[in-house]
Amino acid sequence: MRERIPVGVLAATGAVGQRFVSLLAEHPWFRVVSVTASDRSAGKRYADAVNWVIPGEIPAAVADLVVRPTDEDPGSVPLLFSALPADVAKGLEPGLVAKGYVVASNASAMRMTPDVPILVPDLNPDHVRLIEAQRRRLNTRGFGMAMANCSSTGAVFPLKALNEAFGVEAVHIVTLQAISGAGYPGVSSFDILDNIIPYISNEEDKIETEPRKMLGAVSADGTAIDFADMTISAQVHRVPVMDGHTVAMSVKLRNRASLADVREAIAAYQVAEDARDLPSMPERTMLLRDEADRPQPRRDRDTGRGMTITVGRLQPCPVFDYKLVTLSHNTLRGAAGGAILAAEYAVARGYMDEIIGEAAFAAQ
Ligand SMILES: NC(=O)c1ccc[n+]([C@@H]2O[C@H](COP(=O)([O-])OP(=O)(O)OC[C@H]3O[C@@H](n4cnc5c(N)ncnc54)[C@H](OP(=O)(O)O)[C@@H]3O)[C@@H](O)[C@H]2O)c1
Repeated sequence: MRERIPVGVLAATGAVGQRFVSLLAEHPWFRVVSVTASDRSAGKRYADAVNWVIPGEIPAAVADLVVRPTDEDPGSVPLLFSALPADVAKGLEPGLVAKGYVVASNASAMRMTPDVPILVPDLNPDHVRLIEAQRRRLNTRGFGMAMANCSSTGAVFPLKALNEAFGVEAVHIVTLQAISGAGYPGVSSFDILDNIIPYISNEEDKIETEPRKMLGAVSADGTAIDFADMTISAQVHRVPVMDGHTVAMSVKLRNRASLADVREAIAAYQVAEDARDLPSMPERTMLLRDEADRPQPRRDRDTGRGMTITVGRLQPCPVFDYKLVTLSHNTLRGAAGGAILAAEYAVARGYMDEIIGEAAFAAQ
């Protein structure tokens, strides 16, 4: 057993930051030694700065940490989990990577940088190879990893299974996204109670583009991703659900497949062998349910400690070929849990050996 790797959480006081702090409290490989937030919180004890809105107590090891300003040098911490707002992330994350930090980010800032992987170990583990190209380009031992947009997370797993088995030509996606997806305090109760809002800024563009990168293949020279050749149309909605994004989708296949074939392709989904034993990997990445009224956010979002994608309502589609509904926990699988899983994979594959082997970190 090696020592737990000291990590920092950027924007540790928000909806996603709190999930990082909570999940990392008991993590076998990582331990939180540094937390940052905005100027509003910097200088305060974490427990005094945060408005803790998730289940459980504030972990004792973090409660007394003094919140650091995010633009201050993070110091002797090799790995940073970022829950920064997109605009702040854009200004800070590339600089931290250039300085030699590993940044696993939930913000959208780095997602479309060609040699930054949107790394999901049970979806596209081979994308980890982009790190080598990124390090060469930046001439640094650090690297950035982006995480999937929280709504794309629910869509990409069935799409991967279907694309590999039959080819996917087109997808129409309708999302029903939880309130916590807008952060805290997020949408005002005046706007969301008894209501549905058919707009989330920039979200449709992301869902129409980012899954094509996540489902693509590493280019021949290893410096980018050749995007998957499929057309995606997305319509998004904010709904009065606390946690758990629902995605309803219709899929047009390139090759004919029976309902039984499609069912089997999803049910038989396999995770790459070298990713199966990661601490945050759920027993099942996708759980296909046959009940007529599932998935439901309240009943299904915590499946697999919030890391399993629940799929249901699989049936023929009279417009495209098949339709289905997925449900994923947006702040766990779709944010903090996904970033921790990606970092675990990078560690397991040896991408952080050089950094964590250094005396400065071993001494912590
Ligand atoms: N919520 C989700 O389901 C979800 C899912 C996937 C990805 N994301 C992404 O994750 C990121 C965080 O989202 P969230 O839901 O956690 O938002 P949030 O609840 O609004 O939290 C925002 C966090 O950013 C900090 N912050 C604000 N301005 C800052 C600044 N200028 N410098 C440094 N820190 C600053 C806040 O600190 P203070 O407390 O000090 O103000 C707080 O910790 C966003 O990029 C979001 O798009 C969110």
